[in-house]
Amino acid sequence: MISKIRIAVVALLLAPAAFAQKPILAATPPMGWNSWNKFAGKVDDAAVRGAADAMVSTGMRDAGYVYVNIDDTWEAGRDAKGNILTNSKFPDMKALADYVHSKGMKIGIYSSPGAQTCAHFEGSLGHEVQDANTYAAWGIDYLKYDLCGLRVEMKKLPTHEAQHQMMIEAYKKMDAALKATGRPIVYSLCQYGDDAVWEWGTTVGGNLWRTTGDISDKWASMSDIGFRQAGLAKFAGPGHWNDPDMLEVGNGGMNAEEYRSHMALWAILAAPLLAGNDLSNMTPETISILMNREVIAVDQDKAGKQGDRVTTEGPIEIWSRDLADGTKAVGIFNRAPSVLPAHVDFRKLGFAKAVKAHDLWLQKDLGNLDLTYTPTIPAHGVLFLKVSK
Ligand code: GLA
Repeated sequence: MISKIRIAVVALLLAPAAFAQKPILAATPPMGWNSWNKFAGKVDDAAVRGAADAMVSTGMRDAGYVYVNIDDTWEAGRDAKGNILTNSKFPDMKALADYVHSKGMKIGIYSSPGAQTCAHFEGSLGHEVQDANTYAAWGIDYLKYDLCGLRVEMKKLPTHEAQHQMMIEAYKKMDAALKATGRPIVYSLCQYGDDAVWEWGTTVGGNLWRTTGDISDKWASMSDIGFRQAGLAKFAGPGHWNDPDMLEVGNGGMNAEEYRSHMALWAILAAPLLAGNDLSNMTPETISILMNREVIAVDQDKAGKQGDRVTTEGPIEIWSRDLADGTKAVGIFNRAPSVLPAHVDFRKLGFAKAVKAHDLWLQKDLGNLDLTYTPTIPAHGVLFLKVSK
């Protein structure tokens, strides 16, 4: 009898701990900056500190951009015990992490499950646990794990099935190593969308996974990647996101209309918003595109429902995303290199009567619109609306 009572008391005491919910990591798509698109192999400690400083001074941090992510080329070899070393560009990673944390932000790093990274620096193969522990000791909050070097090992296997299995095991191994550190570390899979990663990304612990090859700072690259994301919405949600690659906004290869299309499409896709430009040197236009709070709010909408394509008419594509407040974000895109009228039928977007519309880029109410509406869309541009009954 006494022992039964004791068990009941112990169970009651433990219950709150057992049911206490851990906060979801990456509950909304990660936002921040990544060094690769602009700096590639030139990234160093000073560039990362400069990005962190700029994120504070421009207001980006307060707009939600909190991850400061170092991509490839920070690695040196290993010490006699096998611990990963940083090269001379990064004299003290712990001090750098402390600096980023002192600014109220988080820091990310990069590695590969192969012996080498894409840029042929040291990878994590055979050192997964050791590397995860090193990252945790430095205070790392985010890891981008890029398949690259493992492909060399995969190619030695005879069947696609065996190669696939090797990749899955490699991603699981690092996931287990990261979790074992006890530090919440966002886990970003980078294997370019092979083998329909969206179908199994969560089973290897991914918080986000690249769905495509590398973006470049050109309309053709960005639009090809962005508009190819149709159909992937159901695989995304809080804690697990499709990643159509980092932003190119502000790198100079596209005009402002094109960058607004880039940003609007990424917001509809609930994509991670990782700026990839030089933050310490931005035009007011770049700042206005990266920091439009209404556009960011669409991306970060707490319902976490990725949007999708609704209609296409030649180069005009209409995409829509359901938002937590019952309204919809609607992007009317023109993929043609000339101005075109778009024929919008709000019935196809689920509305039965005249709608209320708000222009997200202009942050301006447009009032009531009829069920059919014919706006003019700039070349490669977008009209980005919030639409409600
Ligand atoms: C791959 C990735 C890029 C970048 C480079 C670094 O190409 O897809 O995003 O990380 O490697 O070498």
